[in-house]
Amino acid sequence: MHQLFANHIDILKGRFDRALAETGFDALLLGSGTAPRRFLDDTRYPFRAHPSFVQWLPHLTEHPDSWLLLRPGQAPTLYLHCPDDFWHQTPEAPSGDWTHAFEIECFADAGSLKPLLQGLGRTALIAAERPVFAADDWTQNPADLMARLDFERAVKTGWELECLRGANRCAARGHIAAEQLFHVGASEYRIHQGYLVATDHNERDLPYDNIVGLNEHAAVLHYQFQDRLAPAEMRTLLIDAGAADHGYAADITRTHAADRESAFAALIAGLDGAQKSLLQSVRAGVDFVELHLQMHAALAQLLRDSGLVQASVEAQLAQGITSAFFPHGLGHLLGLQVHDVGGWQQDASGTLREPPAEHPYLRLTRKLEPGFVVTVEPGLYFIPSLLDRLRQGPGGEAVSWKQVELLMPYGGIRIEDNVAVTADGHENLTRDAFAAAGREGF
Ligand code: GLY
Ligand code: MN
Ligand code: MN
Repeated sequence: MHQLFANHIDILKGRFDRALAETGFDALLLGSGTAPRRFLDDTRYPFRAHPSFVQWLPHLTEHPDSWLLLRPGQAPTLYLHCPDDFWHQTPEAPSGDWTHAFEIECFADAGSLKPLLQGLGRTALIAAERPVFAADDWTQNPADLMARLDFERAVKTGWELECLRGANRCAARGHIAAEQLFHVGASEYRIHQGYLVATDHNERDLPYDNIVGLNEHAAVLHYQFQDRLAPAEMRTLLIDAGAADHGYAADITRTHAADRESAFAALIAGLDGAQKSLLQSVRAGVDFVELHLQMHAALAQLLRDSGLVQASVEAQLAQGITSAFFPHGLGHLLGLQVHDVGGWQQDASGTLREPPAEHPYLRLTRKLEPGFVVTVEPGLYFIPSLLDRLRQGPGGEAVSWKQVELLMPYGGIRIEDNVAVTADGHENLTRDAFAAAGREGF
């Protein structure tokens, strides 16, 4: 078996055994999930495997209705759903080195699992739906057990880091293709299609829906459409798009200006420089809330230097001016989910630390630890509703509205890297991936 994968499974065994002992369970069943049916329809939503199942079985991301049984001191047992179904391709018993870490049994019908799962002792079940074979005394989604597992999931194993590096290398290929398509005038739709081809992904393989915004659409944080027609004038491309490697997500944003000499291009360079300097502070022991606040100070400086706001950094922060231009959080944990679990959790028992009241969308309030993978994604947007509010408030007087008006048609900027925290710094998975693809410094 791949040594990294063997170590990964050993680490998971240690974590899960400890969590089960601390919460008084003898056994845990993890469900792979089910593809939900559409209302009044016989088609289903795309299947998305449950992350805790994928963490153990990253080679089985397309296997609904399957179960993993974990018991301390025993080999994990996979019950793989292999239905008798001539409408669909059904799974075959898996092969490959990794299977040596598991006992594997195939079953056709969930009812047949009931006799196999008797006498497990105190049993926990992690699944969205209670399966037909569950005994009445099994506890579904126990909060204390899940809090322990979520908390530890922030620290990636060597195998998980390899997958996250792979996802970044793959997404970087898509971003390079997207940039080229933008510069030849492609529509949002064509850019998205080019991205899929370059990453060899289907839409359902993506860890989240691609955000491909041209011009004003770059101001919509999670812009969800793709115009088929290219606009008459191309000004901006903001593309926030990831990729998956064995279920692990990349989450990368780049912003491009059609006119590389424009004031908007200078703002992109300014934000890129500010993001890179902030990255110098990313290391174990640093409080992510402090990093977020540090980024607001850097943004205030950039707004001042570019002439957009005539107020000191302190005055801008006191009046919340930067939040009108940068309304989301600096970043979040990344892994099996693009917004990975446990971002506000301060300990294994589930104590939460909410972000400061003025920064409610910050998803990560933990101190960084070696092995965390986080995004660092500052933004600078021209969002009409937020700017209207700013204009009417006390901070409005400091803003150069004429300049804002000139920049509105460009939408906004986000620059998002994925970084793995180390004891004395970090590894930038995203910029390393671009460098390896020949785009040094991108
Ligand atoms: N792609 C969503 C985010 O950056 O958080
Ligand atoms: Mn993100
Ligand atoms: Mn993103």
